[in-house]
Amino acid sequence: MNFKGRDVISIKDFSKDEILHILKVAEKMVPIARSDEKSKMLDGYIMASLFFEPSTRTRLSFEAAMKRLGGNVIGFAQPGTTSIQKGETLADTIRTAESYCDVIVMRHPKEGSARMAAEFAEVPIINGGDGAGHHPTQCLLDLFTIWKEKGKIEGKKVALLGDLKYGRTVHSLAYALALFGVDMVFISPPELQMPKEVVEECKEMGVNIEVKSTLEDIGDIDVLYVTRIQKERFPDPEEYKKVAGSYRIDLHTLKNVKEDMIIMHPLPRVDEISPDVDATKHAAYFRQTFNGVPVRMALLALVLGVVK
Ligand code: CP
Repeated sequence: MNFKGRDVISIKDFSKDEILHILKVAEKMVPIARSDEKSKMLDGYIMASLFFEPSTRTRLSFEAAMKRLGGNVIGFAQPGTTSIQKGETLADTIRTAESYCDVIVMRHPKEGSARMAAEFAEVPIINGGDGAGHHPTQCLLDLFTIWKEKGKIEGKKVALLGDLKYGRTVHSLAYALALFGVDMVFISPPELQMPKEVVEECKEMGVNIEVKSTLEDIGDIDVLYVTRIQKERFPDPEEYKKVAGSYRIDLHTLKNVKEDMIIMHPLPRVDEISPDVDATKHAAYFRQTFNGVPVRMALLALVLGVVK
């Protein structure tokens, strides 16, 4: 298994064995991510963090991951302060950034932009989210969270709830869970259903898929994965208004769930999980957020060839 020099564009670029290998490397990174151990593993390496779209978790956890391993970070979070303002193309920005660094992490609003950047760059490109396309590192940290919280991924029943149409994390996650043979329930307002091709692909991979429009009968669910309605991706603001606030997890929702059912959310949340759920044993979303650091440490160390 060789990750050195590889781009991370889509979860589909990785086999199940490769995903499990990344999770095992991430597990070893946890004490360093918690600052219980110190590391100089990436001393002398530079990561360029190019964020053309807002982010809190992805950008900060990548930067924390690089720094926890002794590496350095350059980049921008506001493209308005760069020569993109003067009309520089993405291709030229990538060619420039790669001459200053060893690996590029990029978030961009345009679907396909990460794959395009990878065609121009010699250094590895890690996709931090490309429009409604892919968010592979989120997918890996989601899998890591289920693996850590539940002991294994196989055989669990997962419900994906919310904006399954525009939410890029759930498209990647549905595919990855199907790879692990996980049966899923897709719950969303009718306007925000999982794209048919994703449903069909999962079924073809041999897993059972239920499609529902209401949050009922979740008593057999092991993981409830909640997503925000992606307001910024609606072509028509009126369409957003029709579905805004159409589902919400609160203490009442949790009355008939499994004792050990966990709630995950890629965050940010708006109003789809009531804050009083945070104090319950079901809330796993802030542990999930932390898991972004060891998973991204593992990816950086693997693609830079410092860890095999
Ligand atoms: N989960 C996630 O991608 O969060 P950010 O948009 O804050 O990076």
